Amino acid sequence: MRIMDHTDDIQAGLMAWYETNRRDLPWRRTTDPYSIWISEVILQQTRIDQGRDYYLRFTGRFPDVGSLARAGEEEVLRLWQGLGYYRRASNLLKAARIIHETFNDRFPDTWESLVTLPGIGDYTAAAILSIAFGKPYPVVDGNVVRVVARLTGLEIPADTTDGRKQIRSAAHRLMDRQQPGTFNQAIMEFGALHCKPIRPDCQHCIVQRHCSAFESGKVTELPVRNPKQEPRIRYFHYFVILLPGTTGQIVLRKRLTRDIWENLYDFPMIESRSLLTEKQLRKHPEFPESFRETVVELSEMKGIHCHMLSHQHLYVKYFLVRIPAPSKIKIPLNWIPVSPERMRDYPMPRLITRFFEKNRAMMGNKT
Ligand code: ADE
Repeated sequence: MRIMDHTDDIQAGLMAWYETNRRDLPWRRTTDPYSIWISEVILQQTRIDQGRDYYLRFTGRFPDVGSLARAGEEEVLRLWQGLGYYRRASNLLKAARIIHETFNDRFPDTWESLVTLPGIGDYTAAAILSIAFGKPYPVVDGNVVRVVARLTGLEIPADTTDGRKQIRSAAHRLMDRQQPGTFNQAIMEFGALHCKPIRPDCQHCIVQRHCSAFESGKVTELPVRNPKQEPRIRYFHYFVILLPGTTGQIVLRKRLTRDIWENLYDFPMIESRSLLTEKQLRKHPEFPESFRETVVELSEMKGIHCHMLSHQHLYVKYFLVRIPAPSKIKIPLNWIPVSPERMRDYPMPRLITRFFEKNRAMMGNKT
């Protein structure tokens, strides 16, 4: 079947389906490019329901590009906390500052200027240009890949350059040029709610008669994927250092290396090739110098925690460290003693906020 002979029919079908089935979402009530940008970057990280809360909080605090440009990075990261992939949040801030300073707060409306901004790639540029400015750029996200691969019967994996190119070109030909923003949202929404990865409702599908995959019985086989890469397994040993004194300070440190959670705060730690016991940790070359100089009590907390990220699985142990009082210990420069009531000021990965939720007493029950 050649869907390209039926583009008008498919396009009309998707637009009609969307009109009846679209969810009422806050970013669908605006064409403000800043709001569209924020919503689309958040939606690359999470599902719609959770994305809505983040969107409302973020745009409530930073309603326009100028207010975001003036923000400090830690506040932006804190609003992003829990979404993961924190470089996206830092890039939002960097791009806002460029738009503020270079473009005088006027949001760029061309492909060339948008893709030069940090964090704005093909997907985000196409979403902003079509939804906010009515320009005919097709968006290609996972939902669009699925709908187009099934309609066309395309069997090259969409995560190859060639596969992606073909999907983009088919999406472009299907697009409603009068209403590109609505069309893009319609095809994404149709993929999310109707043409689902498993058990799509083909019997009640508005474009069934034009669908190659339905005709050939390959709906569940498409889109074709490259075999998944094995996740990287990592082993973390965290030192939860309780400082002596009445304020109950705990040591945090900022993650400065180009790695997961860049610029967020966690605890001093040792990463190794396998999980270590207390005895092995004490012999590890990275065991903190200051712990060697005095006797510190190191007690392993119960449980090994497995934390899954998209391409990494972390196995984590926590060791409670009590430093003798009065302390003669030299605190390394990048260790930051933080009292429980200030803990919320520091952006942290979900793993660490969970640790505090489970160990509320350590926060003086202030979580
Ligand atoms: N997924 C990401 N952005 C979307 C949008 N604007 N509409 C529907 N689904 C989406």
